[in-house]
Amino acid sequence: MRVNVDRSEGNWGILPNLHDSNNSNLGLGELLDDLTSRMLQELISRLNIAAESFGAQGCEVNLLEWTRDIFTPATACGFYGPNNPLTMEKTLETDFWTFDHGLQSLLIGLFPKVTAQGPYYARERLVAAFKAYLVNKSDAQASAVVQKRLEILSKHAFSPDSTARAELSFLFAGIINTTIASFWLVLRIFASPGLLASIRAEITAAHSLDPSKSSDGDITLSVSSLKSHCPLLASCFRESMRLASDAPSTRLVTQPTTLADKATGATYDLTAGSIVQIAGAAMHADARLWGADVDKFEPRRFLPSKDKSSAAGTASTNPAAYRAYGGGSTLCPGRHLAGSEVLAWTAAVVMALDTVRVDGEELKVPEKEDGTLPVHLCEPKADVKVKFVRRGSGKVRVEL
Ligand code: HEM
Repeated sequence: MRVNVDRSEGNWGILPNLHDSNNSNLGLGELLDDLTSRMLQELISRLNIAAESFGAQGCEVNLLEWTRDIFTPATACGFYGPNNPLTMEKTLETDFWTFDHGLQSLLIGLFPKVTAQGPYYARERLVAAFKAYLVNKSDAQASAVVQKRLEILSKHAFSPDSTARAELSFLFAGIINTTIASFWLVLRIFASPGLLASIRAEITAAHSLDPSKSSDGDITLSVSSLKSHCPLLASCFRESMRLASDAPSTRLVTQPTTLADKATGATYDLTAGSIVQIAGAAMHADARLWGADVDKFEPRRFLPSKDKSSAAGTASTNPAAYRAYGGGSTLCPGRHLAGSEVLAWTAAVVMALDTVRVDGEELKVPEKEDGTLPVHLCEPKADVKVKFVRRGSGKVRVEL
């Protein structure tokens, strides 16, 4: 794992190979389209089942738990096929999130079997299930992206145990941030009735739906129309991640480097061998970059400036100030997949469901929980309870 990590001896080695495989296979193209279709099919079929069960009477859910309960098995199926470890053993879904929430104590690494028992044994149960999945050759129905990863691990003589651990980390990357991003975006939209109406109107127009019928018959949404014709939805997505993100990127300085601040003329000398942390959350909260309304959720902040109200955010923030997907050579390779999933999921929820107030209470957006180590996006500080009812009686379909 530690050999030739920085490619100083050429393009070989397990980490360079995996990095290249992720970047090319999750980049725009046939394999990504195939994977995205699988994911959307899994997500939206679960949404239709949920909508039917909510019915007109409605049902109160904990929004983050509900989102997790759908994204966790859907992503596992999309990546690893119908016989994936989590589908075979439902309790592993709980183990998955116990492992995630215990990451900080596991990383401290002080006798984790004793000091981090819950997450430690949850992780080991997941690894054992992944091992059984590989030994039973259940990966024959996995996505092509996963099969390419498995080929590389096998070429590098990874044992089933090590392969299981590598794949658990990939599933981790694929589930956690996409789930949390979807939670925040759905919440932000439903918490503001005016915004909800504008987003519904935008989706309706983008798909030439008949506004009077769009909640009754079946509707088909398309990811490409959502991306090209729903700028307000896309802006809300970026804005909700700006506020939820807490992504510190860590970099090793490989040669003496001087950084210069053009505005002040100050320079910073970085010595080779030192470590730099790029504090994404601090950059996202900097009024010098985003304007005086930096702490506010501004749905129109990322609209092209011609479409903004004059009050909406700063006109020309440097794109490098946005760190939700990191940056540089480790920029998140899953961003295309994640973008399609979060936009399609949110649009489908917005069209399929409505919320009703519980006890006359407005839907409130809690602060982000930034006191624990997140895997890039923070969860909320408080639970959010939402009562969903079904709109109309139609089903939602999503195509690319
Ligand atoms: C909204 C959802 C997502 C967010 C916010 C997110 C965010 C990030 C961030 C901040 C990084 C670190 C970049 C850096 O070091 O500078 C990262 C890396 C990574 N992400 Fe994502 N991610 C998301 C979804 C996904 C998905 C769906 C996948 C899997 C298909 C994925 C796979 C990865 C991988 C493999 C890396 C490591 C890249 C490397 O080290 O070269 N991510 N992600």
